[in-house]
Amino acid sequence: MNAPVSTIESSVTKPRTRRCACGHETTHRMSGREALERVPCAACGATLLFTSYERMDIALSEYCNLSCQMCRRPSETLFMDVDVCKRAMSEAAQVGVGIVSFSGGEPWVHPKIVQLLEHAFSLGVKVQMVSNGTLLKEKHLPLLEQLDCLTISVDGSEAAHDKIRQRQGTWRRTMQTIQMLAGSKVQWGTNTVMQRDNYDVLWDSFRAIQEIGGFKYAYCGFSHVEVVPETAHLQMTPEESRAAHEQLVRIEAACRQTNTWFNDREMLLHHFDTYAQKGKRYRPKDGCKIPQKFIGFSDHGFYLCWHQGRNIRMDSLVDALSSDLARDIVREGLEKRCVACNCFNYAWDDEWNAGIMASAAAGESVEGVVALRTPDRVKLRLVTGGSVGNTLDLHDDGV
Ligand SMILES: C[S@@+](CC[C@H](N)C(=O)[O-])C[C@H]1O[C@@H](n2cnc3c(N)ncnc32)[C@H](O)[C@@H]1O
Ligand code: SF4
Ligand code: SF4
Repeated sequence: MNAPVSTIESSVTKPRTRRCACGHETTHRMSGREALERVPCAACGATLLFTSYERMDIALSEYCNLSCQMCRRPSETLFMDVDVCKRAMSEAAQVGVGIVSFSGGEPWVHPKIVQLLEHAFSLGVKVQMVSNGTLLKEKHLPLLEQLDCLTISVDGSEAAHDKIRQRQGTWRRTMQTIQMLAGSKVQWGTNTVMQRDNYDVLWDSFRAIQEIGGFKYAYCGFSHVEVVPETAHLQMTPEESRAAHEQLVRIEAACRQTNTWFNDREMLLHHFDTYAQKGKRYRPKDGCKIPQKFIGFSDHGFYLCWHQGRNIRMDSLVDALSSDLARDIVREGLEKRCVACNCFNYAWDDEWNAGIMASAAAGESVEGVVALRTPDRVKLRLVTGGSVGNTLDLHDDGV
């Protein structure tokens, strides 16, 4: 039986408008039960494709020039095929996805990154990128200036950053990039993964970025390291979380004074305890938001929800969204069979976060989720109320 969809009305089923090749505009409200819906143009009858996805996150390669201590990327020297990637981007634009975001691994290790960026720009979508900032050069500025936003990862002041990024000199190199960006027209910001090795230098790091980069940057966001078997030891203790929160309060005040954008303000300032408890997972109380805002794409295929971890191994986005597996994944989410949400991560959506907060307030957490990922399957072991609960073993050919 399908779950009611009325509670996911605003983010998933809000009306969307597409312009047909004949020039006529058609407005359609997604059902919330399909990842892709086909609607005839009222004027000429041509088929228009609708999806609720607004952004496609592309992990261009698993490979990276760094090996940060918290990163889950296997760093295999595999690079996404250029034609496959271009096709996915073109189809994303065709079905109404408005933002393409490049990530990785490190996007700048991809041998054809310039060609891929140029293709993305040609589609008329917004293009974003997350980079460790170590490989960017002056000659890249004209391209970078076309980005909607470039996020540079900075994990602390020099010693903490180099320890976390596991290579001496990384902070200096990244700061050179920040200096270069500060003197350009690029819209840029930073992201920090909070953890045991930097919880006490968040303020120092922020000040250094402002000193080197000036005030016209966006303090994009903090991403808290997630609980996976390899990184659980990097989690902050409750005391360390409190120290981190005090600094975030200071940082937010400084951002207000300097007109610096402070992303995720509400969750970081007012719901930090919930946010920092990465050992707990909260399924949004008002229901899963899948099909949601962000679709993931990597060498392993498409992910209707990165966090759920099931991949649809297809080259075509339209085929993937129309597949039986896509329908199964959406149905499982709506039927509450997926309980893998980590608080706030991969959400960046007020409505979704409100659902997570409501579930946290009601004490409905799934504790100690362990996600074991391999290229085509994910195993989630759920521990609730101190005892081992369900084990979901999800394969890419069905549950
Ligand atoms: C996976 S990286 C890819 C882009 C690029 N290589 C970089 O480091 O910015 C994307 C973002 O995720 C962050 N990140 C890495 N490991 C993480 C983890 N375990 N939990 C949350 N965020 C993480 C990185 O710091 C970076 O800001
Ligand atoms: S630079 Fe980015 S992709 Fe590379 S290891 Fe670090 S977090 Fe992972
Ligand atoms: S993790 Fe599961 S419950 Fe949460 S949004 Fe993704 S599919 Fe839905």
